[in-house]
Parts: sequence; structure tokens; C-alpha cells
Amino acid sequence: MEGAAQWYLADPEATTEWGMALAPCLEAGLVLTFSGDLGAGKTALIRGILRGLGVTGTIRSPTYALLEIYELSRLYCYHFDFYRINNPESLEDSGFRECFRSDSLCFVEWPEKVSAWLPPADLALTLEPVGTGRLLQVRQASAQGMKCLEPLLAPSLPR
Ligand SMILES: Nc1ncnc2c1ncn2[C@@H]1O[C@H](COP(=O)(O)OP(=O)(O)OP(=O)(O)O)[C@@H](O)[C@H]1O
Ligand SMILES: [Mg+2]
Repeated sequence: MEGAAQWYLADPEATTEWGMALAPCLEAGLVLTFSGDLGAGKTALIRGILRGLGVTGTIRSPTYALLEIYELSRLYCYHFDFYRINNPESLEDSGFRECFRSDSLCFVEWPEKVSAWLPPADLALTLEPVGTGRLLQVRQASAQGMKCLEPLLAPSLPR
């Protein structure tokens, strides 16, 4: 079960808005991966999603901490950044595996760094600079991923 869709995000506000629009479609148990070069907008997009989920305080990039945790009334959110990981074996004793549960929502930047270790994604998002904005490509990699993107695929929404 696979599908793909893309959006052009003209400026940082469009990135935030897209993330906020996705937020209400997300449910516990999903894994979302975010690919793209340094500065592509992965963290910016995840910030939009977290705002849409109701996070009000500072949303830090997990660049150095590897993981930032948000406990919302509805669910636990784990935001990972694996840029600095060079071998997935170093994660074996980290306990990070236990973050991927049916009652949690996981956002993973730099999934390529740990692909041998990472559970399969439901949505695989890729950001790429195009012009002054970003091209966002979203691959729905599971039935749950298909379902949660559905509301954003309505033909009435600008693409
Ligand atoms: N649609 C857009 N158009 C233009 N600029 C954007 C857009 N979305 C985000 N940006 C800008 O791009 C930068 C993205 O930085 P961000 O930290 O999100 O990148 P990142 O992909 O997480 O990088 P890293 O791999 O270092 O974690 C920010 O300065 C943000 O304002
Ligand atoms: Mg980042």
C-alpha cells in the first residue's frame, strides 16, 4: 500500500501551516521520517506539526540532545535527530527503541543514518530547496499513513 503526493511550500510560513494542517490527522502509533539536507526545513516542519498538536512552549531542535520529548494530553511525541549518529549499533543500549510504541508519535530527522535500526515509517517526508521555497514530497508507506494524509489530499486544497 503506497502513494505519494507533493506540495510547494513557498516560504517558512507555508511550512508551518502545512505542519499545522497535518497535526489533527495524526494518531498514536505513527512513525514519520523527515529527509533532506541540512537546513532543508525538517525541524521547521516538525515545529509546525507540534504547534498544531498543541505544544505551546519552545520547540528545540534535537540536534545535540538527539531526542526531545513532548507529553501531550492525547499522546507522547518523540522528535529525533540522528544526524550525529554514524553507526546504528551505538543506539542498541540507548532505550530509544522503547519510544516507538502504539501510544506514541515519532518524528525522525536523518532516518538514513539509522535505517537498519529504525522501525518502518508510515509517512516518509522529503524536503528540497526549489527556488526560494521548498518542495515537500510525502510518501505514504503504510495503510495508516495513507489514511492520515487523506484529508490533506482533498482536491479543494491548493497544492
Ligand atoms: N518553505 C520554505 N521556504 C523557504 N525557507 C524555508 C521554508 N521552510 C523552512 N524554511 C527555512 O529553512 C530553514 C530550515 O531550517 P531547519 O532547522 O528546519 O532545517 P533542518 O532540515 O531541520 O536541518 P538539520 O538537518 O540541520 O536539522 C529555516 O531557516 C527556515 O526558516
Ligand atoms: Mg533539524
